[in-house]
Amino acid sequence: MIAFNHVTKSYSEDKIAVKDVNFTVEEGKIVVLLGPSGCGKTTLLRMVNRLESISDGEIIIGNENSMDLDAIELRRKIGYVIQSNGLFPNMTIEENVMLVPDLLGWSKKQKKERFTYLMKLIGLDAADYRKRFPHELSGGQQQRIGVVRALAADPPVMLMDEPFGALDPIIRERIQDEFLQIQREVKKTILFVSHDIDEAIKMADKIVLLRDGEIMQYDTPSEMLAHPKNEFVSQFFGKDRAIKSLSLHTVQNLQEIIGLAPIDETIQDTKTINVNQDLRNTLSMLMNQEADQVVVTNDQGENIGSITIDLVQKYLHFEIKGKLSVSQEG
Ligand SMILES: Nc1ncnc2c1ncn2[C@@H]1O[C@H](COP(=O)(O)OP(=O)(O)OP(=O)(O)O)[C@@H](O)[C@H]1O
Ligand SMILES: [Mg+2]
Repeated sequence: MIAFNHVTKSYSEDKIAVKDVNFTVEEGKIVVLLGPSGCGKTTLLRMVNRLESISDGEIIIGNENSMDLDAIELRRKIGYVIQSNGLFPNMTIEENVMLVPDLLGWSKKQKKERFTYLMKLIGLDAADYRKRFPHELSGGQQQRIGVVRALAADPPVMLMDEPFGALDPIIRERIQDEFLQIQREVKKTILFVSHDIDEAIKMADKIVLLRDGEIMQYDTPSEMLAHPKNEFVSQFFGKDRAIKSLSLHTVQNLQEIIGLAPIDETIQDTKTINVNQDLRNTLSMLMNQEADQVVVTNDQGENIGSITIDLVQKYLHFEIKGKLSVSQEG
């Protein structure tokens, strides 16, 4: 657990970067700090591991006040992924990943086992990559290494500052999925910075939306999309809030509420989608292909019906827009 209690940070008398911030990251959850450039996201993160001092208020990690902990000790217990992956160019991949375990005095055998386990998590062959240097990896692979390096000593808390920021959209989505998969297994308490709305909606259990160092809203993604607390929040998520929130719903949700359409066997080359896929992906599939149906399959790979633009629209209208409290105008 990480709790921010009335946390304020001023860099100078007239530069207040964070103003009276209150929120809690529950054990095993991902909270995304979202907001425009300069709103104080990195500052908040760096106060947790004491790379930045706190001007007022306190940060509680587990049961302890961060100020009562030894700063070096604290940083070893907190995994930190910085934006540009921060790998050391002159160290091998194994040396980079095992940096903190090395500092903690792990044995050679322990380190080797851990390295092999971590590489497996990100789908890279440990033997193949062990002795390579960062420049011998692709950008996406380097970012994965940055992430597992933060996981290396199995810290309960992770701070991730735009960890996938430098990646192109397709690789980025893949790494997000992969990371969520890993998180289901390791259940870390994570504070994650992003300025990308789609990424925040996808990754967050809860979002902290900031403006000029102040929290505008702290809520689950679906609550924030459905019930923005003020004009700033609603403007920030934009007019297509409803479409964005499709990514929080699956084909199965639609099936349960309005049912699937029968499969039109006369349509050739129909694409298929798994029933657990989200509706935003489904919509983009429908919009990108000529045919007007996508066949839905269950986990056994059986065709169980089809989905059409009409159905997605219907669902959007009744299930999503029906629940939006603020109108879509403006
Ligand atoms: N060391 C510093 N000294 C003075 N002002 C600073 C310092 N670091 C950050 N600031 C200011 O504090 C505010 C918040 O900065 P911060 O880096 O936390 O923003 P951010 O939300 O992470 O932005 P970005 O999305 O661009 O990374 C900004 O106005 C910034 O100029
Ligand atoms: Mg920043």
